[in-house]
Amino acid sequence: MPGSLTDTGVSRLLEWFEASGADLPWRHTRDRYRVLVAEVQLQATPVDRVLPYYANWIERWPTAEALAAAPLGEVLAAWQGLGYPRRARNLHRAAQAIVSDGWPERLTDLPGVGPYTAAALRCFADGEAVLPIDTNVERILARRFPEGWPGTPEGAGWEVGQALMDLGRLWCTARAPRCERGCPLRGGCLAADEGVVAEVTPKRRPQGRYEGSLRQRRGTLLASVSSGGTPAVEEDSEAAESLVRDGLVFQVGDRLHPIA
Ligand code: ADE
Repeated sequence: MPGSLTDTGVSRLLEWFEASGADLPWRHTRDRYRVLVAEVQLQATPVDRVLPYYANWIERWPTAEALAAAPLGEVLAAWQGLGYPRRARNLHRAAQAIVSDGWPERLTDLPGVGPYTAAALRCFADGEAVLPIDTNVERILARRFPEGWPGTPEGAGWEVGQALMDLGRLWCTARAPRCERGCPLRGGCLAADEGVVAEVTPKRRPQGRYEGSLRQRRGTLLASVSSGGTPAVEEDSEAAESLVRDGLVFQVGDRLHPIA
């Protein structure tokens, strides 16, 4: 009953997700490895850009065993263009740890798995009623549930998590929330009622300019190595040293080479 005193909005969220939830490839699996791949790729990369990378990755390395056995150089090359290549190296290491020791009790023991990704695995692979709180979900909670999450209905952990992902990506967005254009949680949203949606939005750490950044320069060098070049370290020694330090390229003499 929308608007009633006992209506927390969660049942509406779930109805809306059932009717209009996005059909995304990682929503067709509950396999922990596949969920991990999706979550790591989706960290800092929008859904549309991830789609072809995810499809290619799962076709090539459908299991943790397959990924663990792949040469790191190939793994890094398949990541090329997604950005933040440390994610690929960590995913490769995580697959190797899973193959040799199994999934750890504490998921954050895996390389590259922080509290968000651990919660996402429990929610999206194991179906637990754990909220995967990334910046989108944090924003929804701050705006629509300032008193705290009212509770997940029995057995609906996965649906709640995925619904929040869609809501944050498509409706309750950071800069252009579509409160009055059909947001399924508009009813009961005090922030929207009071016109303070922008004010109660948690601040994001500004990303800084990409043009000319170390991140861009690292990307340029790594792209050169991935496409068969052996750029000289002195082309950009700061970027080169940082790639070597991260284990993403080898330095032989004064040139960079791909990891075998
Ligand atoms: N971002 C992170 N996880 C996601 C998911 N499961 N669906 C859509 N966007 C996401």
